Amino acid sequence: MKPAETVQKPPQSTNIIWHHATIKREHRQRQNGHASVVLWFTGLSGSGKSTIAHAVEEQLYQMGCRTYVLDGDNVRHGLCGDLGFSTEDRRENIRRIGEMAKLFVDAGLIVLTAFISPFRADRKRVRGILMPGDFLEIYCKCPIEVCEARDVKQLYKRARTGEVPEFTGISSPYEEPLAPDLAIDTAQLSLEQSVNAVMTLLRERGVITSGFQSC
Ligand code: ADX
Repeated sequence: MKPAETVQKPPQSTNIIWHHATIKREHRQRQNGHASVVLWFTGLSGSGKSTIAHAVEEQLYQMGCRTYVLDGDNVRHGLCGDLGFSTEDRRENIRRIGEMAKLFVDAGLIVLTAFISPFRADRKRVRGILMPGDFLEIYCKCPIEVCEARDVKQLYKRARTGEVPEFTGISSPYEEPLAPDLAIDTAQLSLEQSVNAVMTLLRERGVITSGFQSC
C-alpha cells in the first residue's frame, strides 16, 4: 500500500442509526467560552511536538480553557497498543487519533495532538473529516541532525545500528507539510517563542478571543 493512498472503509456494522444529541458542540463551546479545535503537531521524533503541545496546554489551562493532549508515545500504550511502525500501522494510528480528535472537538475541547504523522495523505484525511477551520496543522520543523543530537529517548542511536527498525527520518519516510497553518523552527526558537506563536495562531483564528481570561 502506498502512503499517498487514502483508505476509508465504510462501517462494517449494519443496522446502525446515528443518534442526534440535544446538547451539541455549540452548547459546549458557549459554556466553555472558547471554540473547539484540533492543534495537530507533526514532525520528526525529537522535534519538540510534545514539549510545545504540553506547554501550550498549560497556558490554556491557566486561562480556563478546556484542553486535552493526545501524545503518540502515551496513546501507543493503550488505544493503539496493538500497532507498530509499519506504514499500514502508522496510517491506522493516525486514522484512530483523527477520529478521536473529532470526538474531542465535538466535546468542545481544544485538543492538541503530538504524533509524527509522517504521511501527508493521512494528515489530509484527518483535516477532511473535520469542519473547515477545525484542523490547524503545526509543523515542528527541525533538521534531523538536530533531533538526532538531542536524542532524548536514545532512539536515533539505536536506529542507526538497526536495533530500532523503520525509524522515521532514518529508515522510514517523513513527508513535510506543504502548507501548514503554522511552521515552528524549533532548532532556532525557544520554547517560550514557540508557545507564543501557537497562542497567536489561536487568537488569529478566533479560537480564543484576545480578552479571554476564563470561562
Ligand atoms: S506515527 O508515525 O504513527 O505518527 P507516533 O507519533 O505514534 O508515530 O509515535 C512516535 C514515537 O514512538 C516516537 O516519538 C518514539 O518515541 C517512538 N518510536 C518507537 N519506534 C519508532 C520508530 N520506528 N519510528 C518512529 N518513532 C518510534
